[in-house]
Amino acid sequence: MWRSLRPIGRSDASGGYRRYAWTGADAECRLWFQAQAEARGLDYEVDRNGNQWAWLGDPARGDAVVTGSHLDSVPDGGAFDGPLGVVSSFAALDELRARRVSFTRPLAIVNFGDEEGARFGLACVGSRLTAGQLTVEAAHKLRDGDGVSLPQAMEAAGYDPYGIGPDPERLARIGAFVELHVEQGRALDLTGDPVGIASAIWPHGRWRFDFRGEANHAGTTRLVDRRDPMLTYAETVLAARREAELAGAVATFGKIAVEPNGVNAIPSLVRGWLDSRAADQPTLDTVVTGIEKAAREYADRHGIDLDVVRESFTPVVEFEDALRDELGTILGARSERPLPVLGTGAGHDAGILSGSIPTAMLFVRNPTGVSHSPAEFAAEDDCVAGVLALADVLEGLACS
Ligand code: GLV
Ligand code: MN
Ligand code: MN
Ligand code: MN
Repeated sequence: MWRSLRPIGRSDASGGYRRYAWTGADAECRLWFQAQAEARGLDYEVDRNGNQWAWLGDPARGDAVVTGSHLDSVPDGGAFDGPLGVVSSFAALDELRARRVSFTRPLAIVNFGDEEGARFGLACVGSRLTAGQLTVEAAHKLRDGDGVSLPQAMEAAGYDPYGIGPDPERLARIGAFVELHVEQGRALDLTGDPVGIASAIWPHGRWRFDFRGEANHAGTTRLVDRRDPMLTYAETVLAARREAELAGAVATFGKIAVEPNGVNAIPSLVRGWLDSRAADQPTLDTVVTGIEKAAREYADRHGIDLDVVRESFTPVVEFEDALRDELGTILGARSERPLPVLGTGAGHDAGILSGSIPTAMLFVRNPTGVSHSPAEFAAEDDCVAGVLALADVLEGLACS
């Protein structure tokens, strides 16, 4: 199963994945998911927002137990971020069938669309739409770097962009959602555990900083005559590092667009995207306000115009105590010591859904902590431990 997914959307040059929403690689991933569902005799469906579902049992019975994750990637992403949760879900179902358990609740495996937001700039588009946390109007305004709108991209991929929207009936049929994922940095490596349980997701957001100056000749323009937005941008990147360090938070400028983008021209525009996250909301506010304040001071000093736009924001998520405790009890009974319970700075579809339905997450150890990179890794034994833990949880929740 893993082998057939591995080549899809992988760049020969970097070894990383480029599985962006509604592209050819995404379509191939979707076909892969459908084939896995059909091979297991599951009822396959695509919801109004393009999320894929594979059902065992009748969803109309309600109180379903759902597991899954996403198959899309960041630019040059790793093999595990997302796919590990989907592959583990199918593998856990295979394990439960081998255990010959009988299911008392409907079970579904889901692949949420566009979790990383690599193409349209907003993460978790599929789950946000379903949970009503992204309006149809706002979704229709999303555009990728080439100016292609979300509706155009969906239509090109053969989906109806005018049917998207909240799906409360679907959510009402779900009693629990459990997502398995690898993104928790080195937390599990430090505790020495292959598997852990999520407690919370840090609040996080994305801000676009537009620094506008004046394009001019790199050879003939005296330094004192320049209005160079790159300088202001560079100073802002340093301020972001400083503010994050002071607050014990994280702040990253990982994407930049420059105009005119010529090696011998002072830029007219530098557009940088800030991703910042912190353990709590007041800390995040302090960090972002501090970065913006510093950016405005530098901008004033260099004659630069600055616009700052918050492009997306996800508040703190505290996973439901009752479901988390249930996972702890199920898994604690089968291991020598209680599983670690950890928070993470990474966003997830589970975080979005936690506002609507009982939601929990399992994490699998990432020994280097590297993710959003081709070097992302999880050891085979740990992946197997994750599958068995997920199978135990699903058995505990959905089987007699
Ligand atoms: C997704 O992985 C994110 O938190 O950026
Ligand atoms: Mn990710
Ligand atoms: Mn992910
Ligand atoms: Mn993610």
